Amino acid sequence: MELLLWLWSQLRSCGNNLPTLGIALTVFALLFDFLKRRKSWSRYPPGPTSLPFIGTMLQIDFHNPHRSFTQLSKKYGNVFSLQNCWSNLIVLNGFKAVKEALVQKSEDFADRPYFPIYEHLGYGENSEGVLLARYGHAWKEQRRFALSTLRNFGMGKKSLEQRVTEEAGFLCSAICSEQGRPFDPHFLINNAVSNVICSLVYSERFDYDNKKFQRLLHLVEQALKEEGGFLPQLLLVVPWLLRIPGVPQSVFRAQKEVLDFTDELVKEHRMTWNPTQKRDFTDAFLQEIETAKEHAGTSFSDNNLRLVTVDLFTAGTETTSTTLRWALLYMLLHPDIQCKVHEEIDKVIGRDRSPKMEDQANMPYTNAVIHETQRYGDIVPAGLPHMTYRDTELQGYFIPKGTTVITNLSSVLKDETVWEKPHQFYPEHFLDADGQFVKREAFLPFSAGSEKRETHHLLHMEAESLFTPTCA
Ligand code: HEM
Ligand SMILES: *[C@@H]1O[C@H](CO)[C@@H](O)[C@H](O)[C@H]1NC(C)=O
Repeated sequence: MELLLWLWSQLRSCGNNLPTLGIALTVFALLFDFLKRRKSWSRYPPGPTSLPFIGTMLQIDFHNPHRSFTQLSKKYGNVFSLQNCWSNLIVLNGFKAVKEALVQKSEDFADRPYFPIYEHLGYGENSEGVLLARYGHAWKEQRRFALSTLRNFGMGKKSLEQRVTEEAGFLCSAICSEQGRPFDPHFLINNAVSNVICSLVYSERFDYDNKKFQRLLHLVEQALKEEGGFLPQLLLVVPWLLRIPGVPQSVFRAQKEVLDFTDELVKEHRMTWNPTQKRDFTDAFLQEIETAKEHAGTSFSDNNLRLVTVDLFTAGTETTSTTLRWALLYMLLHPDIQCKVHEEIDKVIGRDRSPKMEDQANMPYTNAVIHETQRYGDIVPAGLPHMTYRDTELQGYFIPKGTTVITNLSSVLKDETVWEKPHQFYPEHFLDADGQFVKREAFLPFSAGSEKRETHHLLHMEAESLFTPTCA
């Protein structure tokens, strides 16, 4: 500190001597950078050498990050560290390390890093919503609300299962109407899955030829792609560039448009809202906003309504429809497996009625195929970033509070020490010798976490129910 003060006084006194000023500034900047990047903790996870200002960013090949990461974990092990400019990041690989973080020490790892790139959408300092919300009161309140509201639907008259069955019927009709001609089912599936969420959130579904909704579905995909580009990645690590007027709006155009669309849906909803009647998630939320007016410090606000619903869309739609597309592909690639699934469907459900969730218990083979689709499909390979909520230890390493933590779900789903055939589509991973379904601990496509960042549990059990096989 004294050194800094001394440097500062030198800077002030040498205003009329430009070379000296230049040198002093450079020394000052390097020193500041050194202090920012310094990791003075013993037992901090190993990693590549961090360079002034940029940290370890050059060690990652942006065109092929995958290969860089594989090499790094070979060199440094299952827990290694990186540094993006001044922010510390650790990567966890393999079932053991990921489980210790998410299950045994779930609260220590329950926080989320803050993403300034979403500020322009209306996310404040605590990143409202649920998906990226910081660990704390608001997140807990919203998670509890989302879980109980989604579970009780039941809301209105229809259960979630009924809604799924109904939508599956529409999807099957649309597929049948192609009469065996080749076609791309991508957006049809997106539409069907979105409709289930729309039905829960807005009591609405959108016909598969609705132009406006088709545009929204394309925007959602575009919004995801937007984040993967070079510029967004740069903004992620150098957030002050976001202060340049117009930058966030033009780089994340699709995201903004998605939010505008959902704003409109909420507005329409408000006009038909009758407080004595709870049609859906939005109605229940509006009710909470009214109640919240009498209490300070709740997270039920107009802004949070839009962010939470957008979160349910982003979290629920792409994931489920991508999984369903993988399922179709695996069935095409493995006709023998497809055949066995079909036999089981014919045996247990027959061709005269729709499937029910209860059927799952009597369909071990199909259940195993669905699980294997999720394991092998591996659709959220790097999970969502976590952040340490307090100083903690992991696999014998020390990890300070505020460190970003990447849980490599891919490395768990394909962990060679756990799975018999990690790199093959092999439904037997989930079957015992008698052909009965077995749960596997390393099945973490939804990530994990018991109570703290208990993302899933219930939400994702609901999610699983979106996969009931159909089509008579
Ligand atoms: C195949 C389908 C799905 C997959 C593979 C999937 C996967 C994931 C993953 C990996 C996370 C990050 C968990 C973490 O922080 O470690 C997550 C979070 C989340 N998912 Fe899903 N998900 C799926 C479907 C859904 C559905 C249908 C919904 C509900 C509509 C949903 C709602 C959420 C929410 C709200 C979060 C954030 C929870 C929090 O941060 O507390 N997901 N999901
Ligand atoms: C995650 O694990 C997979 C499979 O083990 C590996 O190929 C990939 O490079 C890992 N990614 C990171 C970020 O470590």
